[in-house]
Amino acid sequence: MTQRLTIRRPDDWHLHLRDGAMLAGVLPETARDFARAIIMPNLVPPVVTAQDAADYRARILAALPEDMAFTPLMTLYLTEETDPKDVAAAHASGLVSAVKLYPAGATTNSASGVQDFDKVRGVLETMAGIGCPLCVHGEVTDPEVDIFDREAVFIDRVLDPIRRAVPGLRVVMEHLTTADGVDYVRAHETGLGATITTHHLIITRNHILVGGIKPHYYCLPVAKRARHRDALVAAATSGDARFFLGTDSAPHSDPTKESACGCAGIFSATNTLSCLAEVFEREGALDRLEAFASLNGPAFYRLAPNAETITLVKGAPVAFPDKIATGVGPVTLFDPGFPLHWRVER
Ligand code: DOR
Ligand code: ZN
Repeated sequence: MTQRLTIRRPDDWHLHLRDGAMLAGVLPETARDFARAIIMPNLVPPVVTAQDAADYRARILAALPEDMAFTPLMTLYLTEETDPKDVAAAHASGLVSAVKLYPAGATTNSASGVQDFDKVRGVLETMAGIGCPLCVHGEVTDPEVDIFDREAVFIDRVLDPIRRAVPGLRVVMEHLTTADGVDYVRAHETGLGATITTHHLIITRNHILVGGIKPHYYCLPVAKRARHRDALVAAATSGDARFFLGTDSAPHSDPTKESACGCAGIFSATNTLSCLAEVFEREGALDRLEAFASLNGPAFYRLAPNAETITLVKGAPVAFPDKIATGVGPVTLFDPGFPLHWRVER
């Protein structure tokens, strides 16, 4: 018996598209399945002003193949110099959907991030006033803190104090990786959402380290132990509207990952929906995939869900390419480590 699942067309609430030849190479992989995505601003140099965002948006649309429809939802990279008026105008015009907070040095291209949180208080207060969400990379950068503890420590040291200092600020905890993060979101009724990536629903730290070092499973925040992965799966498949899909699909060319100092990032745009269907099916939660991938995100961002639908069909294992070719070299696709039986009907 063929199994079919029709859901509203999904969106990706956390995506890295890069620029230039990499953008051209990876954009169709997302646009094929997703209607919209929140576009991360960590270019070099970063997308800081409304003008930067308008220019980047134009480059994304110019790179989109003519037969594809896709709406990039732009973000601004929060710096200690960000002008609250620029943010307010960009949000009011609809150009910018959110502002991204990277603690300085937390991850790829985060050198311009925030060091002194008091310096961004004014912007955060403006954002609270206008309902513009703050997307947070939730890891402390204190070298004394173990890398596997950086998310949990961030919640106590940074996130909770910010939320208390700026009441009404709407926050998305990006790419949750811990049960601590899940618990924090669950404990707060309003104004707090969280994205969960495809890969963090599947891998644990063993995938990175057992049997040889596997750079294509390395990302930030780094995958944690199985009990954390299982807490993420429980949250994503629960239907709870505070949890939604943000793939964090983050392309790096193979030579930059397969290196003595490899870049953080997992590229999953191409097979994300097949991976998710497998995870949700295993949990007996296929009926909640639509909430996670297509409904909860728009609700948080105060947008309507997409009118169109997609249909997932279950059959023989799907053969995805190992790598995507781009003008800056091959990009390895996320390997979930199990066969994928669900494909998006074209
Ligand atoms: O693994 C990651 N890759 N985590 C991030 O936060 C950034 C991203 C990237 O830009 O490559
Ligand atoms: Zn990211």
